[in-house]
Amino acid sequence: MTQDTTPDIDLALFGALGDLALRKLYTALYHLDRDGLLGASTRILGLARQDIDAEAFRQRVQQALKKHVKTALLEKTCLERFIARLDYLQLDFATVEGYDAIARWRKDVERPMTVYLAVPASIYGDICRNLSASGSLDEQTRVVVEKPIGYDLESSRQINDAIGEAFPESRIYRIDHYLGKETVQNLIALRFANPLFGNQWNQNQISHVEITVAEQVGIEGRWGYFDKAGQLRDMVQNHLLQLLCLIAMDPPSNLDADAIRDEKVKVLKALKPFTQETIGRDVVRGQYIAGSINGESVPGYLEEEGANTESRTETFVAMKTEVSNWRWAGVPFYLRTGKRMPEKLSQIVIHFRQQPHYIFDPDQRDLAANKLIIRLQPEEGIALQVLTKDGGLDKGMRLRPGPLHLDFNSAFPKSRIPDAYERLLLEVMKGQQYLFVRRDEVEYAWRWCDQLIEGWKARDMPPRRYPAGSWGPVASIAMITQDGRSWYEDY
Ligand code: BG6
Repeated sequence: MTQDTTPDIDLALFGALGDLALRKLYTALYHLDRDGLLGASTRILGLARQDIDAEAFRQRVQQALKKHVKTALLEKTCLERFIARLDYLQLDFATVEGYDAIARWRKDVERPMTVYLAVPASIYGDICRNLSASGSLDEQTRVVVEKPIGYDLESSRQINDAIGEAFPESRIYRIDHYLGKETVQNLIALRFANPLFGNQWNQNQISHVEITVAEQVGIEGRWGYFDKAGQLRDMVQNHLLQLLCLIAMDPPSNLDADAIRDEKVKVLKALKPFTQETIGRDVVRGQYIAGSINGESVPGYLEEEGANTESRTETFVAMKTEVSNWRWAGVPFYLRTGKRMPEKLSQIVIHFRQQPHYIFDPDQRDLAANKLIIRLQPEEGIALQVLTKDGGLDKGMRLRPGPLHLDFNSAFPKSRIPDAYERLLLEVMKGQQYLFVRRDEVEYAWRWCDQLIEGWKARDMPPRRYPAGSWGPVASIAMITQDGRSWYEDY
């Protein structure tokens, strides 16, 4: 994991004119190129159905970069160098005809190829089969796939099987873009490089953990996809469970991909299954109705473009769960994620236990515990809330909570925080898998979500309404207050 040079690769990008590619991937690749992190001879072949030539493709990519890269960072020489790396192939992904053009593009080239599938998972199988049948793959070819890997355990197995027929696990890179976020990786450094935290990280010292991933956006033209998924499949099955794993896992014996992923799998296996009783008590599903965000009216979920007005799909989930093992027995993990919340906020709060014997004013007892607040986005940073004496002659020994605060932007002002895709693409090029999700992780996460979804179906409960611009249904607040706690609000 040291910073060595990036090997040259050929990148075959399926879905080259799709939203993900245009919004995220070229931008990330451009930044890597600008920072000197792309191999000098690395080339990119865009593949899509549209009948355009390479020149028109380069123009489209250039337009996308102008839209998504800060003007100050869009330097003429870098841009020209990057655009010169691009080529285009029109291809119908579903049939094998035409795939042989990939081998022709690569003729006489020694460098390994990475295939990036920026397309719906339903066609991963076709593409992998056609790549194999057309002889486009060799012993070095890697494949990158995006979430969602399936809709449930069964469908994820089918997709993983189809990919697995063409690629061994060691060359499959399943993206969960949260793992590419700088602060998410910092969880590993924070936990395993700091003895201060390492020694406290268990049920003796921690009373509970909160993970909030709040989004301000709504469905953004993706109603068709989202309505089949819902917030549990779209966000919890992958991003929130990955965060939970990084918080809860035991120290890996080293930083190798499998050492880390083995520990994450143990957490997923230890997640307590829900029962009908705990689903009723510890899980809240919500759906937003019209409301306002930043002073502007926004429509409800059922009024979004393309909506089925009968939909019961959840756009918000809050839940209490537990990791049933020695380290965490009895420590609730409260998870909450929703669309159309008042702000975009991804934050983990570790609540430490109180001192065994309390000697200060009785009315301040509830204050008297430390909290570690890890802000993933926006404004990445870490704050440790500590208690000090309130200043002033009239205050006696009154306590006052205040943060020991590390704001990444001001503490390390020179470093641009790279987008998750930059980190992930770089790791693929270097052949390092520790930031990618292994097959068994995907499947254990589905297993846990599936039984929750089954439980929802059995109860046949519609989601609770919450106005856009609020923190979710009132029931999600009641869920945590019934334990004598509240969602952490101040940063
Ligand atoms: C994606 C989900 O995986 O993550 C989207 O499909 C969600 O629905 C997005 O909006 C959130 O990512 P980020 O990086 O903006 O927090």
